[in-house]
Amino acid sequence: MIEDDALETKRLRLRPFQRGDEDELTRHLGDWEITRQLALDPRPFGLDHAQDWIDECLAQPNGHKYGLRFAIEAPGETGLVGGAGLSPLGAGFELGYWIGRPFWRRGYATEAASALVGLGFAALGLKGIMALVFGENPASVRVLEKIGFEPAEAVEASETEGAGRAVREYRLCRPTSNKAPARP
Ligand SMILES: CC(C)(COP(=O)(O)OP(=O)(O)OC[C@H]1O[C@@H](n2cnc3c(N)ncnc32)[C@H](O)[C@@H]1OP(=O)(O)O)[C@@H](O)C(=O)NCCC(=O)NCCS
Repeated sequence: MIEDDALETKRLRLRPFQRGDEDELTRHLGDWEITRQLALDPRPFGLDHAQDWIDECLAQPNGHKYGLRFAIEAPGETGLVGGAGLSPLGAGFELGYWIGRPFWRRGYATEAASALVGLGFAALGLKGIMALVFGENPASVRVLEKIGFEPAEAVEASETEGAGRAVREYRLCRPTSNKAPARP
């Protein structure tokens, strides 16, 4: 069961989104510096978006069908410090993450993304995971590099445009030592 489980890392707790997270989501994702880097509608993120997001998470529990979506908490911090997920995309799964601006550069994104990728390989049995970086985003590229992602050659050679922004694809294959059963 993944649905109700929280994922503990050295410093963070990743748990499913729940009612009551709406204000925190709005606080962080109302920040254009964060939202502009995400594959969301390019409009200000408000309470209605947050409510829609929570409704969707509750209707689509964590698991292989809908992927994994976690709110990120840090001990000693009130509310959320970020969010991260593995979402079904085409035949694979896409890694996504954001950290609230007050908590940047503490290594939280790297820690959360690394744990999530591990769960994707172990619990979901994924063979590979991809990530999309929109436009210039050196922080996200660095996070991906640190956890072993590499640019996908096909996309790197001819960058595509997504919603008016260049999109770069990164990929990570499951380590061969992982014995979890493979799924597409
Ligand atoms: C990208 C993001 C999640 C990084 O979060 P973070 O918790 O600050 O990242 P970390 O602290 O784990 O830092 C990881 C690495 O990136 C580097 N880094 C962080 N911010 C950086 C920046 N603005 N420019 C360049 N490098 C940066 C860190 O120094 C670290 O590298 P190092 O260990 O070699 O020094 C955060 O900036 C964010 O939420 N941005 C908006 C949303 C977003 O871009 N999501 C990803 C979409 S693909």
